Amino acid sequence: MVLALIKHGGNLREAAKQYNIPLENWVDLSTGINPNGWLPAEIPTHVWQRLPEENDGLVEAAQQYYGVKSILPVAGSQAAIQTLPLCRRKSTVGIISPAYAEHAYCWRQAGHHVIAIQREQIEQQLSNLDVLIIINPNNPDTFLTPHAHLVSWHQQLAKKGGWLIVDEAFMDSTPKHSLLQQNLDTLPKLIVLRSLGKFFGLAGLRLGFVIAKPELLEIIRQKQGTWAISHPTRWIGKHALQDNVWQIQSRQSLQQLSQALQQCLSSVNLKNVKTTHLFCYIQLETAKELREHLAQHGIWVRYFDQPKAIRIGLPRNEKELNRLGNLLERFTA
Ligand SMILES: Cc1ncc(COP(=O)(O)O)c(C=O)c1O
Repeated sequence: MVLALIKHGGNLREAAKQYNIPLENWVDLSTGINPNGWLPAEIPTHVWQRLPEENDGLVEAAQQYYGVKSILPVAGSQAAIQTLPLCRRKSTVGIISPAYAEHAYCWRQAGHHVIAIQREQIEQQLSNLDVLIIINPNNPDTFLTPHAHLVSWHQQLAKKGGWLIVDEAFMDSTPKHSLLQQNLDTLPKLIVLRSLGKFFGLAGLRLGFVIAKPELLEIIRQKQGTWAISHPTRWIGKHALQDNVWQIQSRQSLQQLSQALQQCLSSVNLKNVKTTHLFCYIQLETAKELREHLAQHGIWVRYFDQPKAIRIGLPRNEKELNRLGNLLERFTA
């Protein structure tokens, strides 16, 4: 099956062309990427020149950071999202709607039967499903699914050979909500995805992790082939995962930036704002008009059609926040 590729946020060059505003004049709030991400010190020459090797300490750094044993690095969690549908016979796959659209796209592309389900229907639908995918917290609507629900759904699926996939791409700023903190990573048929693209702000690096039983990780490893992750990516990833001090400071500063964004949105009377530490989500009848208004003035946010909503990423600093606040005020006045 061939489906048209999905559009994502972060497409600033496209916005610059469409609105005829130079790239450097934009504030890009169209993703949930930490605007003050981790940056490496100078990268040693041998990292550019030598082939990547698997025993370079990346896996140990990841085992330590995530608190798990059975873990595989992949070229962005997106790589796992694309590979997992190739590791199962044809299945019926349930995905909450709205959600990061690549999951449904990749399972459909691989010929599986995908159903978009509402959160309230999960229990009822579970007997029809072979695979359930939960993004936790959810992108875009920020919903955090409680552990007890995940554990119960996992038990029901695992009994019949089904999978529960929990995509924790946006979990790093609230680690206590991660399934990995509960030592649940040893459960068969549970697959957890993590990303260095969001909290660490290293979206361009293309590094993520799959946590699952070793047998499944070996299948994914074989499918991704040799040198799937570059040596610079492995080196940077290892050092980012080991930098505890940066991680603690960033959790605090993201919380502050996110509170400032929430205050800004409530001061212009935007209601029903839902938040994570990396983005806000607002369901709004005039979402399309608001996106257009902001874009005409060089602020790029993400618009969703069903339901009508916008997602606003974190402004990097007060200057960006004020620019957003002024434009929102003009829109809602
Ligand atoms: C929920 C979710 N999962 C996974 C990804 C893929 O991220 P990456 O491939 O950079 O790890 C994204 C990207 O936006 C996402 O929103």
